Amino acid sequence: MSTWAILAAAGSGERLGADRPKAFVALGELPLLATSMERLDESDWIDAIVVAAPPGWEEPSILLAEEIGAGKVSAVVPGGATRAESVRLALAEVPDDAVAVLVHDAARPLVGDEVVGRVLTPLAEGWDGVVPALAVADTVKRVDGDLVLETLDRGDLVAVQTPQAFLADTLRRALAGGGDATDCAGLVEAAGGRVRWVEGDPRLLKVTTKADLERVSAWL
Ligand code: C5P
Repeated sequence: MSTWAILAAAGSGERLGADRPKAFVALGELPLLATSMERLDESDWIDAIVVAAPPGWEEPSILLAEEIGAGKVSAVVPGGATRAESVRLALAEVPDDAVAVLVHDAARPLVGDEVVGRVLTPLAEGWDGVVPALAVADTVKRVDGDLVLETLDRGDLVAVQTPQAFLADTLRRALAGGGDATDCAGLVEAAGGRVRWVEGDPRLLKVTTKADLERVSAWL
């Protein structure tokens, strides 16, 4: 049984206001991409890694993998216009005999081995996909412009993170539909797949703003 990881790193990161794509903004001494790459490379759960790099940044991504000794990085592809498209392009590099695929946002650098194990384990119980999630602490309302339409029952809501684990064939079929969603599980759900959630990790904060970057760097 082989498990491949896809690192979605092709976002522009406009909200960071940097002069380069988010994956190459500094976190500590290295580009942000290095932390998740190194952590997945060191994970015993993962056999090989495909990186969806910002278009034009494939070479720096390969050099970065070499610099940090991430020997499991087996391919680097230029990402697409959307996250789903980037994952689709990376998945094309995953061999047919791969059983499971872990999809992770490079924008969440602090991926731990515990959460990787938590999402991969239920695949053996027949789930099509597994996502890490946190309970929602705030009250959540549906709005239309300035108008509040309704208050949702937060007991029924969770905030979903990555890494997300899928049976490889299920993910291939879900992505083949050509749809778009903010996470891969959304496409698997839309294709009729059974997805479960497990406990996430607050340190899997997604770096979107400069303040997020400062928080994550304090946790390094
Ligand atoms: O844009 P957002 O922060 O939601 O992106 C989540 C992850 O998806 C990031 O790691 C980003 O690099 C990746 N992404 C991608 N290709 C895109 C857009 C986002 O790989 N076209």
